[in-house]
Amino acid sequence: MNNVQRENDDTYPDFGLYWGDAYDEYADAQNKTAETTKAVVFLAGLVGGGTALELGCGNGHIALPLGKAGMQIHGLDSSTRMLSLLDQKNDPHLVQTHHGDMANFDFGMRFDLIYCVNNSFTHLLSVERQLSCLRSVTNALEDDGHFVIHLNYPNTTDFTGKGMQADQRTTVFHVDEHRTLVRFTKHDRNDQIFISQDLWITPEGVRTLPTKLRYVYPSELELLTRFVGLGLVERWGDWERRPVDTSSWSHVSVFRKTDSTVAL
Ligand SMILES: C[S@@+](CC[C@H](N)C(=O)[O-])C[C@H]1O[C@@H](n2cnc3c(N)ncnc32)[C@H](O)[C@@H]1O
Repeated sequence: MNNVQRENDDTYPDFGLYWGDAYDEYADAQNKTAETTKAVVFLAGLVGGGTALELGCGNGHIALPLGKAGMQIHGLDSSTRMLSLLDQKNDPHLVQTHHGDMANFDFGMRFDLIYCVNNSFTHLLSVERQLSCLRSVTNALEDDGHFVIHLNYPNTTDFTGKGMQADQRTTVFHVDEHRTLVRFTKHDRNDQIFISQDLWITPEGVRTLPTKLRYVYPSELELLTRFVGLGLVERWGDWERRPVDTSSWSHVSVFRKTDSTVAL
């Protein structure tokens, strides 16, 4: 008997339709440039002269600088809008783009490095889709290759309202003289889903940027990867390899193929 009622379906809207035009400005407001440079150095150190694949490559924040540094980079994204924004900057042809679903991919080739950064993995909205993605990763990874995943720690604090508002939170993300970014979040703790609306407020008006994600705990990720024959070899608190501790708000986890899988 299965009486599990889920409040959420696991379909994700086309990210680029809402976020495409705002993404670079948003990253800039969050001071992401320095972090991007560190991520590129970290990933370049793992790929060597080989071939890498980014899952959820977006408009190429990470893939394009890796391509510029001489790596052979493929990028997979489900949003045609994000891929077309990447293609506008993809001159000369540095990144080979693929339109598709990271929950189920197979390009008929293997990669020395597969990476999924800036929480793209959480856009897979069910444990089944996350597991299916990890299975595709194992199949597409060279035997001595690396899989890198970069995620924020789930922040389930501050849902301090009472009664009907108990699952909701408001966060001010950014304020300067020209713009304000406020996020309203609703939390479904049973399915580990955050639904949020960012309000991007400027003198020109207000824009709404929706997000829906299924967060994963580091321990849960480790378990899921064991089911598909991947083993954790390194975990860091950031791209500069600072240790993970109880104050870390993100983690960079590096996996390699193992000889064993845990049976489902
Ligand atoms: C937060 S953005 C990150 C983009 C890029 N990795 C970066 O660091 O700038 C997440 C990206 O994942 C893509 N995405 C969401 N679900 C996906 C899926 N099922 N398969 C492939 N890409 C997906 C979105 O279209 C979006 O471009």
